[in-house]
Amino acid sequence: MSDATPEVAPGFTGFQGAIEAIALGFPARFEGAASEAALREEKAKLLGKKGDLTFALKAMGALPPAERKAAGEQVNGLKGAIEAAFEGRLRAIAGEALARELSGPAYDLTLPPRVASPRGHKHPIGIVRDEIVDIFRSLGFAVHDGPEVEREDYNFTKLGFPPDHPATDMQDSFWTTSGHLLRTHTSNVQVRAMLGKVPPFAFVAPGTVYRRDNEDATHLPQFNQLEAFLVDRRVSFSHLRGVLAEFAERLYGPGTTIRLRPSYFPFVEPGAEVDVRCVFCKGSGCSTCKGTGFIEILGCGMIHPVVFENCGIDPQAWTGFALGMGLERIALLRYGIEDIRLLVENDPRFLSQFR
Ligand code: DAH
Repeated sequence: MSDATPEVAPGFTGFQGAIEAIALGFPARFEGAASEAALREEKAKLLGKKGDLTFALKAMGALPPAERKAAGEQVNGLKGAIEAAFEGRLRAIAGEALARELSGPAYDLTLPPRVASPRGHKHPIGIVRDEIVDIFRSLGFAVHDGPEVEREDYNFTKLGFPPDHPATDMQDSFWTTSGHLLRTHTSNVQVRAMLGKVPPFAFVAPGTVYRRDNEDATHLPQFNQLEAFLVDRRVSFSHLRGVLAEFAERLYGPGTTIRLRPSYFPFVEPGAEVDVRCVFCKGSGCSTCKGTGFIEILGCGMIHPVVFENCGIDPQAWTGFALGMGLERIALLRYGIEDIRLLVENDPRFLSQFR
């Protein structure tokens, strides 16, 4: 073959011969393809780079110029016909596959799976929260909910925080553009539960709180607290002391000793921090309790008369106590977890230990 002679697929004679052979042959070739893969292979043999139609196109170059326009239209028409036939056969093959599937044996949807799917379980924070809520429930406290996006006055002002208290600073709390904030503690529920209501009350309020802290082994910007408060006639500090002692024994076991240290919170007077005898060294002093034998677990106190007044409750007629604790802290101590970040990383190797 000289350079001027175009290549023509073997068995075809010139352009017309090639075109006719393709036109006559492709319907049967497509019909004979039983699978989508086989069909695509046939299509490639016709239209692909080395396909029959491509060979025919090259043969077109040998035609006299006057015939080329008609020949081009012929090729395009044939190409369209091949593509339409391909699509039709593709649909037919899919239809056949579906028909086979539908006429085959039915699936038994009631069969149990061969591999049992793993069962979920509570997160350590959920375990601790539910346990603490149960303790307070058994003491007569009901559960009260509160919003995580809160008004400044419910989170701070009505609880007796002065306007320039550092906690109200932009740097310490997350503020929304509308002037609300993500609650910095669950004490907001005290206001929510008491405002315009008539005592007695006894509530616990577990929930998520937010502070602008950088995360490290002991801090997270989002964590969980549980608030408890009780208001009635003639509630005294000894009632608070009794509830705390009962709570500590239920949570950490009989004989758990507690200790109260005076402390300051704007919404209680007097205020205190509560320590439990160190659960690790039983009081002899270790690195967790920094040699003191005690570990701080919560803040508490007698509800400040100003808070009652801000909520429309007469402080002469009613008294009450409140306490608040961080659930992460309780969980870390309970399980001997050394880094608070483990609680939010959702590593299954960590979480599966709480199954
Ligand atoms: N709201 C306090 C905090 O986030 C915890 C707290 C302290 C709650 C004393 C109380 C309380 O109800 O009486 O640090």
